[in-house]
Amino acid sequence: MRLDPTTMKHFLASLCLIGSLLHSLTRCTAATSEFQLEGDYWIGGLFDIHHVSRLACQARPEAIDCSSQPFSLSNYRKFQLMRFAVEQINNSTNLLPNVSLGYDIFDHCSDTQSFPGILKLISVKNLIQPWGENHNNLSKMIAVVGPFTSTHALTVAPLFMADLIPMVNYGSTSSVFSKKMKYPSFMRTVFPNQDVTEVIVSLMQHFKWRWVAFLYSDNDFGTDGLELFIKKIKNTKICLAFSKGLNDNTNYSLMFKQIEAQQIHVFIVFSEELVAEPLIKAAIQLSITNKVWIAGESWSLSKRLLHIEGIKNIGTILGVSQPVVTIPGFSDFIFSTKTQRHWEDVEKSMFCNQECNCSHLKADDILTENPTFSFPIYSAIYAVAHALHNTLKCGDGKCKKNMTVYPHKVLAELKRSNFTLLNRSIQFDENGDIKFGLYSIVFWNHRGGVQEIGFYKFHPLHFFINDSEIKWFTNGGVPTSLCSPECSVGYVKKQNGIHQCCFTCEICPNGTYINSTEDPYSCISCKDTEWSAEGSTSCNQRLVEFIPFTDSGAILIMLGAGALVGLTLAVSVLFAVNYNTPVVRSAGGPMCFLILGCLSLCSISVFFYFGQPSVSSCVLRFLPFFLFYTVCLACFVVRSFQIVCIFKIAAKFPRIQTCWMKYHGQWLVITVAFTTQALFFLTGFSTGPPKPYNETVWYPEKIILSCEISVIATYGTIVLLSALSSLCFIFSYMGKDLPKNYNEAKAITFCLLLLILTWIIFATVYMLYRGKYIHTINALAVLSSLYSFLLWYFFPKCYIIIFQPHKNTQQYFQDLIQNYTKTISQ
Ligand SMILES: *[C@@H]1O[C@H](CO)[C@@H](O)[C@H](O)[C@H]1NC(C)=O
Ligand SMILES: *[C@@H]1O[C@H](CO)[C@@H](O)[C@H](O)[C@H]1NC(C)=O
Ligand SMILES: *[C@@H]1O[C@H](CO)[C@@H](O)[C@H](O)[C@H]1NC(C)=O
Ligand SMILES: *[C@@H]1O[C@H](CO)[C@@H](O)[C@H](O)[C@H]1NC(C)=O
Ligand SMILES: *[C@@H]1O[C@H](CO)[C@@H](O)[C@H](O)[C@H]1NC(C)=O
Ligand SMILES: *[C@@H]1O[C@H](CO)[C@@H](O)[C@H](O)[C@H]1NC(C)=O
Ligand SMILES: *[C@@H]1O[C@H](CO)[C@@H](O)[C@H](O)[C@H]1NC(C)=O
Ligand SMILES: *[C@@H]1O[C@H](CO)[C@@H](O)[C@H](O)[C@H]1NC(C)=O
Ligand SMILES: *[C@@H]1O[C@H](CO)[C@@H](O)[C@H](O)[C@H]1NC(C)=O
Ligand SMILES: *[C@@H]1O[C@H](CO)[C@@H](O)[C@H](O)[C@H]1NC(C)=O
Ligand SMILES: *[C@@H]1O[C@H](CO)[C@@H](O)[C@H](O)[C@H]1NC(C)=O
Ligand SMILES: *[C@@H]1O[C@H](CO)[C@@H](O)[C@H](O)[C@H]1NC(C)=O
Repeated sequence: MRLDPTTMKHFLASLCLIGSLLHSLTRCTAATSEFQLEGDYWIGGLFDIHHVSRLACQARPEAIDCSSQPFSLSNYRKFQLMRFAVEQINNSTNLLPNVSLGYDIFDHCSDTQSFPGILKLISVKNLIQPWGENHNNLSKMIAVVGPFTSTHALTVAPLFMADLIPMVNYGSTSSVFSKKMKYPSFMRTVFPNQDVTEVIVSLMQHFKWRWVAFLYSDNDFGTDGLELFIKKIKNTKICLAFSKGLNDNTNYSLMFKQIEAQQIHVFIVFSEELVAEPLIKAAIQLSITNKVWIAGESWSLSKRLLHIEGIKNIGTILGVSQPVVTIPGFSDFIFSTKTQRHWEDVEKSMFCNQECNCSHLKADDILTENPTFSFPIYSAIYAVAHALHNTLKCGDGKCKKNMTVYPHKVLAELKRSNFTLLNRSIQFDENGDIKFGLYSIVFWNHRGGVQEIGFYKFHPLHFFINDSEIKWFTNGGVPTSLCSPECSVGYVKKQNGIHQCCFTCEICPNGTYINSTEDPYSCISCKDTEWSAEGSTSCNQRLVEFIPFTDSGAILIMLGAGALVGLTLAVSVLFAVNYNTPVVRSAGGPMCFLILGCLSLCSISVFFYFGQPSVSSCVLRFLPFFLFYTVCLACFVVRSFQIVCIFKIAAKFPRIQTCWMKYHGQWLVITVAFTTQALFFLTGFSTGPPKPYNETVWYPEKIILSCEISVIATYGTIVLLSALSSLCFIFSYMGKDLPKNYNEAKAITFCLLLLILTWIIFATVYMLYRGKYIHTINALAVLSSLYSFLLWYFFPKCYIIIFQPHKNTQQYFQDLIQNYTKTISQ
């Protein structure tokens, strides 16, 4: 926005009016020359030599008279440093040769009531000319140094920013000043709050303090620090248990009570010296003991606090501080000014707030005051001088003095600053923040001294602390500050409430593990192929188990299956040779060969119970046995039906028998059973084919490789098999009292009983055991189902054929039948 010249003039006129009104009202008395030095160019200075402790209510417009407010020695020291630096530059022959540098310093004690000084700084001949409309009447003021606190800087900065007057600050650390859109001509020689909070967080992490209180001064500086601290600890294990803005109205006893209730042992005090003082005094008075205090840079070197009585009792004090830099010549300067002061008296009437009743101060007191911010002030003045030097294109012992020096030109040179001061390189980054980087870590020892125990360097990052130099209040190890003690290995943290630091520990159940470095708040499930015991930190690979072909049990069973095939072959040959004998005929004649063939085919299944299962081996494990065993059972159903039929039904229903004979009833039944079973398999396996399956439920540390077969897919098969077995059992049981040589029925009954017993035993074992040997047992059950028919149905017949040929005659059979018909007719 641009104001047109007439509005501007009105604005300026009113500003001047206020200025002169204030001027007349405050009856400024004479000031000493300490606040002013004539020169070709001036540097403005703003120092809060006095500070307003309590704002009084105002009834009429009134500028504050700072000299009546409480005095701050450490800020007076800063003020003297500026004076020293300017004089040193003025004396120097290399920097700004033949150009005299002056200053105009104001006591800036209030952020709301100290404006006359600021207006004076930006005015030329009592006129303020924003945007330097006229170039003839230019101000000699080229830059301003200060004010100290962030709050003060925030209120005055816009007035300087408007004209791009460089504001080189030595103490305002709020991060907001890094925003160049808002504060284009703001530079600082002190690290912003980001850096000091980073050091504090590193300190917390170094000592593993997780449960901390953050006490900050209730102003722009403190709240900025709090915000940055919260941001910095976001992804760390540190929890902010308590935070409190300190001001004059803070009820310390209440605050410490709240802190005690939460068992916090580490306090970060992010405040100015003036705010820290009542806090420490209250802690001493309230007998707060055994705490760790982290001092911010403003008070970590404070001599005043160091010498408070009883400070040793409150615990261990560590601090983050600017490195102490001895500035050569400064003490001589102080001694000489202090001796001068006796004869130099109040002479000229100056502007308000350029006054200090400081004649009683001793040089030693000033020199031993808190040295923090000395180097930032010193370097700020030098940076301005160097910028001016470059603006004036000085060199070869002279400068182009007739040049017009605009503040924004000085600003441009300031941004390009690159010089060495006391062996430190001074450069600014793009935000106008100083670039050199080092913080000291200090410890307040019990001899009443501040001891440097480590440092934190930014470029490149290097953090070092000599722990052994710290004498903790515990007289031993590092004090802890935790909400909950760490969990033991294998335990998971279950957060209580809003703080992640407060938790209870629970053991991770079996089948899960915890990786504390990754996520200490959850147990992670193991993969299917892994297992873990309770409280594990990793999973173990499960043992993969199956029965290999080389297993001795497997070999035996496969040999048994081979033998079965051999035996069926032998029996077939024997039966073929004796085909026309009554024993073979009564055994079923041609049907015997079908049964024997099917038994051999069934034995194929046995071989597929071993080795690593695949889809095809799983299919072959079930298919041959179920399919051909169906045929066997169907044959036996037919056999037992015929036996019963011949002797019982034939007598009563001869027509059924003729039908049966005429339509080859036996083969029909067998074919129907076979095709039905085959159809069941076709539909069942096409919907849910058997597939390899990893048994992981029964044994946590093992994987048993098996085959899975869907119950629904095999439903029809099982029903058919069960129906056939039941029919077979019923028919054979009905024929159990037939003549001796026709005792096939008895044999079939016995075989079926064996069969049922085998599978009941298998089912029982299967309920209790699922280890890898279940496959051996399953194969054994299959084999035993096959052998039961071979041994108890076919072998007795073979025995008669080979060893009792006299029983294998037509005559013998007829005798038996006649005896039988006699007995049933009786
Ligand atoms: C500047 O020079 C004057 C006289 O040459 C001397 O008295 C004074 O101490 C010097 N000041 C500084 C800061 O060096
Ligand atoms: C400043 O320097 C000039 C010469 O460069 C000298 O004449 C003058 O006395 C100095 N002022 C002070 C206060 O040292
Ligand atoms: C210093 O400046 C004065 C005027 O300001 C001039 O008379 C004098 O010659 C200059 N000295 C040198 C060495 O340039
Ligand atoms: C500059 O200041 C002089 C003296 O106060 C005054 O006479 C003159 O009008 C001013 N020039 C402008 C452009 O304001
Ligand atoms: C401070 O808090 C305590 C309670 O802890 C209360 O008794 C006391 O009156 C409070 N003091 C002030 C000045 O409010
Ligand atoms: C200056 O301070 C001294 C000591 O504190 C005091 O005695 C004297 O009255 C003060 N003078 C003024 C003008 O305030
Ligand atoms: C400065 O003075 C030199 C001669 O000493 C002159 O040549 C030059 O033009 C002057 N520059 C300005 C901006 O007045
Ligand atoms: C600063 O100056 C030194 C030597 O004077 C030079 O080596 C360095 O490159 C300069 N740095 C920048 C950023 O200009
Ligand atoms: C300056 O620093 C260098 C290395 O950083 C060091 O060797 C030298 O002694 C230092 N000089 C002074 C005067 O401190
Ligand atoms: C740490 O401090 C102890 C005691 O002051 C000292 O003996 C030791 O050398 C220091 N260690 C390092 C690495 O500076
Ligand atoms: C795993 O835990 C469950 C529940 O506590 C228990 O039933 C099971 O036996 C455990 N398994 C192992 C291998 O410890
Ligand atoms: C835990 O997690 C970390 C980080 O992801 C990883 O480096 C480490 O190997 C894990 N430890 C275990 C036992 O899995």
